[in-house]
Amino acid sequence: MNIGNKAWRSIWLGEDGCSVGVIDQRKLPHVFKTKTLRTWQDAADAIKSMVVRGAPLIGVTGAYGLMLALQSDATDKALNIAIKNLMATRPTAVNLRWALERMRKAVFLLPQSERAEAAKREVGLIVAEDVACCDAIGTYGLSILQKLAEDKCLKGEDLPIQILTHCNAGWLATVDWGTALAPIYKAFRKGVNLHVWVDETRPRNQGASLTSYELGCEGIPHTVIVDNAGGYLMQNNQVDLVLVGTDRTTKTGDVCNKIGTYLKALAAYDNNIPFYVALPISTIDWSIKEGLAEIPIEIRSENEVKQIPGRLLSLNGGVDIASVKLVPDFAKTFNPAFDITPARLVTAFITDKGILAATEEGLEAIYSCS
Ligand code: MRU
Repeated sequence: MNIGNKAWRSIWLGEDGCSVGVIDQRKLPHVFKTKTLRTWQDAADAIKSMVVRGAPLIGVTGAYGLMLALQSDATDKALNIAIKNLMATRPTAVNLRWALERMRKAVFLLPQSERAEAAKREVGLIVAEDVACCDAIGTYGLSILQKLAEDKCLKGEDLPIQILTHCNAGWLATVDWGTALAPIYKAFRKGVNLHVWVDETRPRNQGASLTSYELGCEGIPHTVIVDNAGGYLMQNNQVDLVLVGTDRTTKTGDVCNKIGTYLKALAAYDNNIPFYVALPISTIDWSIKEGLAEIPIEIRSENEVKQIPGRLLSLNGGVDIASVKLVPDFAKTFNPAFDITPARLVTAFITDKGILAATEEGLEAIYSCS
């Protein structure tokens, strides 16, 4: 997608053919910086410190991390150490496990001398597939948004369709296009009259900083709201559809996504508003059924709740980023990063294989899709 006049991806193979470039997402939207990863430890740090984030991108970064590991040491021991450490970086998004297992399968039977090249080939395939999946999610989701716009028109309402999204499930969370934002990009390019409500998404504010940045770069009309405003908007007919991504979805359709997603799903259900979840099939964890019981929820640092970073309003127009404290010194805080939305609250899944019912049978239909 575009930043200024230049097309970017969130991650790429360096020009030297052996390092990896990423956009450092921590200071966006105020500072645009890229970072070079040269070792698997760099990749692990980038995931852990959220230089890169978003389930599909975490998976791709893990895969690149393994490529980097094998370039310097292709023994079984080095392979296993890198996999173990990369896997431990963030626990919730299943794409990381999926990508690392796929990479292991692609290399472990090969002689050591061939492993690094094979890893590079495999990560190239994963990257290409991620882009193609998000593109397909965009196309399937487009049909839903077009239909909504037509229905609105038929009712004589010459108004934009109103979409509410949570966190960032755009191209910065994937390699390109995004999951939940891909249909929005495609619809906007097709001329669908739309507007996006962007949840700020405390505590790390991926909505306010990343989703707003992405949408703005593409010229898409949007408004950032505090996380608590969604219910009010829904009660006042200001939301036609909720569209979010997911970090892990069980085989029965329970959705694990950024903390606060569940509350939006409840409010949507209460107001009879469709709640769609967009995902590539690599985000489905076929080994589990019960989201609440079986998905490990990442508990992040208390500091993310206690403090808030932002750009200082300086008179000289400089870009100074600082954190300020929000709570009294004695305050304890708690910071679960994800929650579970039960399948019963999900209208349907928008996947790269089509639009699927939020049930075990619905998801299994993937196997019969071409
Ligand atoms: O903690 P993050 O920023 O890695 O979490 C990402 C999300 O939860 C997003 O909502 C997203 O939908 C999943 S990735 C497309």
